[in-house]
Amino acid sequence: MNGLYRNVFQGGMKVSNYFMGYHMPEYVFGRGLIKKLPQILKDKDAGKVLVVTDEGLVRAGIAGMIEDLLKEAGIEYELFSSVKQNPTSDDVEAGYKTFRENDCDSVLGVGGGSPMDCAKGICAKAAHPKKSVRQMQGLLKVHKRIPELFMVPTTSGTGSETTVAAVITDAETHRKAAINDLVLIPSFAVLDPELTVTLTPELTATTGMDALCHAVEAYTNQLYNTETENTLALKAVRLIYDNLLPAYKDGGDIVARENMQLAAFYAGRAFTRGCVGYVHAIGHTLGGLYGVPHGKAMAILLPHVMRAFGPAAHDRLAELADSCGITGKDSAETAEKFIGWMEETKRNTGIPEKPDMIKNEDVDQMIRWAMKEANPLYPTPVLWGYDDFRSFIDSVRE
Ligand SMILES: NC(=O)c1ccc[n+]([C@@H]2O[C@H](COP(=O)([O-])OP(=O)(O)OC[C@H]3O[C@@H](n4cnc5c(N)ncnc54)[C@H](O)[C@@H]3O)[C@@H](O)[C@H]2O)c1
Ligand SMILES: [Fe+2]
Repeated sequence: MNGLYRNVFQGGMKVSNYFMGYHMPEYVFGRGLIKKLPQILKDKDAGKVLVVTDEGLVRAGIAGMIEDLLKEAGIEYELFSSVKQNPTSDDVEAGYKTFRENDCDSVLGVGGGSPMDCAKGICAKAAHPKKSVRQMQGLLKVHKRIPELFMVPTTSGTGSETTVAAVITDAETHRKAAINDLVLIPSFAVLDPELTVTLTPELTATTGMDALCHAVEAYTNQLYNTETENTLALKAVRLIYDNLLPAYKDGGDIVARENMQLAAFYAGRAFTRGCVGYVHAIGHTLGGLYGVPHGKAMAILLPHVMRAFGPAAHDRLAELADSCGITGKDSAETAEKFIGWMEETKRNTGIPEKPDMIKNEDVDQMIRWAMKEANPLYPTPVLWGYDDFRSFIDSVRE
C-alpha cells in the first residue's frame, strides 16, 4: 500500500461519501419508551417479527419483557436467542434459517452489538439468500432492499442501532470483518436507558470505552467528516468523560445511563461516515482469534494507538481534550493529558493495560487482517504499513 494510492482512493471516497446520502434511523429516546415498541412495529407494518437476542438478555429479563409487550399487543413473533458474543457467520446462517422457516417479515435486534449485528446479517442474507457472509463483507455488497429492521440497544457502546456496519466473524477462518452498506442502517431504534441499568460494571466500562473509541477514531480521522460528525464526536467524548465512571460506580444512576446511551448513539453516527481506525482494525483480530469482547479490545488498544500516531494526531486529540476541559501548554501536552485520562479510566475500571493474549505465531496473520480492513479505507492520521503494525504490536506487548 503506498501513500499515493491511499490518497487517490480516499479522495474518491470523500467525494462519493458526499453523495451517498447517509441517513439516520427514526428513533425515540427516553426512559420507559420501550412501551412504545408495539405501536412502532404496527405503524411500520412489521408483520411477523424475528426477535434476535442472546442468552444474557434472556437472563436479564429483557427478552421476556419484550416478548410480553409483543404478546399483549397481538404481534406475531419468533424468538432467536442464541447469538454469541462476537457473532459468527454460523449465528447469521442459523438466524436466517429461523427467519425463513417461520415466514418472518421483519427483524428486531435486542441487545448489544452482537445481537444487533447478527440481526443485520440476517437481513443481508434475506436480501441475498445465496450469498455467504464472507461474500457480503466489505463495502456496499448488499445494495438491495432488506426486511424492515428495528433495534433496541441494551449496551451503550457499539452504536450499531444507527450505523452501516454489521461486524461478523467468519466461523471458518476466524477473521472478523464488517458488512458495510447503507441499507443496513436500521429503520427504527428505541433508545430506552432503563434497559441498560442491568449491565455489570465491567460491561458498562468496556462498552463505554468502545463508544469513546468510535468518537476518537472518527474525530482524529478527519477526512470524510462533515461538521455534523465532528460535532457529534465532540459531544460524545464530553458525555463519556462526565458519565462513564458514574455509570460504572452506580449502575442505577439513570442520568449517567441516559447520557452514556446518547453518547454511544452520537459516536455511532460520527464513525458511520468518518470511519474507525487502527484500534478497530487490530482490535477485531483480538475478537476473532481469541474471543476478546469488543469493548475490552478497544479499551486496551485505544491509548496505545493514539500515542503511536505522534504529532499527526496532537491537534485533533487536543480539541477533544479541550471539549472536556483538559488543558495543557500546547497541543502535544494537551493530547498527552487526554491519553492519560483514557489510561486512568482503564485503571479505575479494571481494564488491562496491555494485550497480553497475543501469541507470537498469530502476529503475522493479525497484521495482514488489520491491513486488509484498514488500508486504504480508513483515513487514519498516519498510514501504517506492515513494519509499522509489527513494531506497534511488539511495543505494546513489552
Ligand atoms: N455494527 C457496528 O457498527 C459495531 C460497532 C462496534 C462494535 N460492533 C460489534 O458489536 C459487538 C459487541 O457488542 P457489545 O459490546 O454491545 O456487547 P455484546 O452485544 O457482545 O454483549 C456483551 C454481553 O453483555 C450482555 N448484555 C447486553 N446488554 C445487557 C443488559 N442490558 N444487561 C445485562 N447484560 C447485558 C450480553 O448478554 C452479552 O453477554 C462486537 O461483535 C463488535 O465487533 C459493531
Ligand atoms: Fe467498536
